[in-house]
Amino acid sequence: MTSVLPSSQWWRSAVIYQIYPRSFADSNGDGMGDLLGIRDRLPELAELGIDAVWLSPFYTSPQRDAGYDVADYCDVDPLFGTLDDFDSMTARAHELDLRVIVDLVPNHSSSDHRWFQEALAAAPGSDERARYIFREGRGENGELPPNNWDSVFGGQAWTRTENSDGTPGQWYLHLFDSTQPDFDWHNPWVRRQFEDVLRFWLDRGVDGFRVDVAHGMIKADRLPDWTPPVAGGSMGGTGTAADAAELAASRAPYWAQDGVHEIYREWRRVLDSYDGERILAAEAWVDPLTDMANWVRPDEMHQAFNFPYLETPWAAEPLRAVIDASISAFSAVDAPSTWVLSNHDVVRHASRLALTAVNPQGHGIGPRSAGLPNPELGLHRARAATALMLSLPGSSYLYQGEELGLPEVIDLPDEAREDPTWFRTNGERYGRDGCRVPIPWEADAPSYGFGPTAASWLPQPADWAPFARDAQRNVSDSTLTMYMMALALRRAHELGMGELEWLDSGDKTVLALRNGDVRVYANTGDAAVALPAGEVLLASGPLGDGKLPADTTVWLRA
Ligand code: GLC
Ligand code: CA
Repeated sequence: MTSVLPSSQWWRSAVIYQIYPRSFADSNGDGMGDLLGIRDRLPELAELGIDAVWLSPFYTSPQRDAGYDVADYCDVDPLFGTLDDFDSMTARAHELDLRVIVDLVPNHSSSDHRWFQEALAAAPGSDERARYIFREGRGENGELPPNNWDSVFGGQAWTRTENSDGTPGQWYLHLFDSTQPDFDWHNPWVRRQFEDVLRFWLDRGVDGFRVDVAHGMIKADRLPDWTPPVAGGSMGGTGTAADAAELAASRAPYWAQDGVHEIYREWRRVLDSYDGERILAAEAWVDPLTDMANWVRPDEMHQAFNFPYLETPWAAEPLRAVIDASISAFSAVDAPSTWVLSNHDVVRHASRLALTAVNPQGHGIGPRSAGLPNPELGLHRARAATALMLSLPGSSYLYQGEELGLPEVIDLPDEAREDPTWFRTNGERYGRDGCRVPIPWEADAPSYGFGPTAASWLPQPADWAPFARDAQRNVSDSTLTMYMMALALRRAHELGMGELEWLDSGDKTVLALRNGDVRVYANTGDAAVALPAGEVLLASGPLGDGKLPADTTVWLRA
């Protein structure tokens, strides 16, 4: 099957909608979303006005990290359907003029993968072990891990194996869960397997890959010890101690090593040998943006997720700084900037933007977290932030449910949580379940129309009926209507291919810009300001008479 859509550098301005298959739509009522569920809901996404969908993993997997632990890269997990279902879903998407991007998880496999099981069964020093990163332990009897690295999910990054006679053996590296052993990407065998995986999905007609942990595949030679800085993350490029810590964290000997680029150049050659314009999008948590731009040089990937933008608080000054830094870093390598506010790893922006505390990736919030967000304030800011984002030139990513204004689900019962982060930190970090709850389609149906039954793999809040898609459709002031209007205007005014020019708003808290024939004013402050003159094309919230209220963005005809 080949890609049927015309090529036009579509990815430079595309709006790409992330589907989290577990939680999008369930066709058979078992409480788990699946590929046929997705297929049947695609018309609603076409109506929303997006250009492409990106699907998080649906491959064979024991689901220890919600499918980011792949046990067969070339098959569909029965939980989600079959390869035929995938083909049928892709065909439907292409009929609707939607491109399909799939997730590629090359840093690690599941420990259930045949390649790892063979490695465990083989002797130290064997070709099978050389697929992964096995090492002898330190200490007199190898009882200490080979180095001091921590897992991203908490705890140590090494697990000791057992020899066939029951004695303790070598250790293997896992930057994430112990069920996610890291590959050794210096090994040409590994590279060949993944080239086959790319071809397998390209032959099935996919339009691209989102590449998981694209900053982690190569580790520094000799795996040196490394002690991370104290603070865990930041909410924007504001020059704080947390920023410095984040910058230092992105310098760990397992992140952003030069050797990764050669791999992407090889992949790019594979993609370019196919018809259509198939793309690679990097999940690379690399600071600063000028370094991240190395992932999207002309012969590497097409896009990289703009996490510095996602992490920026709702405030005019840092937003302007990160937007400038993004456009300048990416345009220096002739790549479009991307923009993103939510995904399956972070607190949904309708909650996050009302948090005051630093909220690092993957930490999540729960009933016992300090400083819980005010939902009305969060939604207000989220709508304003989205209206700003969708006015910017470049490509934007949306995460399923944000078009409904969904908040983070905070009060999930402890026993419902599934994120390995929660278990590996003994509940100290809530993890990411709160942004992964199955989304509501119909206000009055069981599981809010997520599936034909009331089943839902994570419990849905009792008060979600007003968020359901059918409750928001054709309602003039709903979040869904705002997204549809913004996407339609963005297309009509070709904002994705436009150019940004800053305007003087006369107020420190109000961002003002022009993109082509649209002027945008985003009031990030907490007081209303005078509404600039002009025909209103879009407003993220109600406009007081002659006023642009706090936390509101407006688009005017220039
Ligand atoms: C990426 C994914 C995340 C996953 C991790 C390990 O960060 O987005 O969900 O847990 O990689 O694969
Ligand atoms: Ca199902």
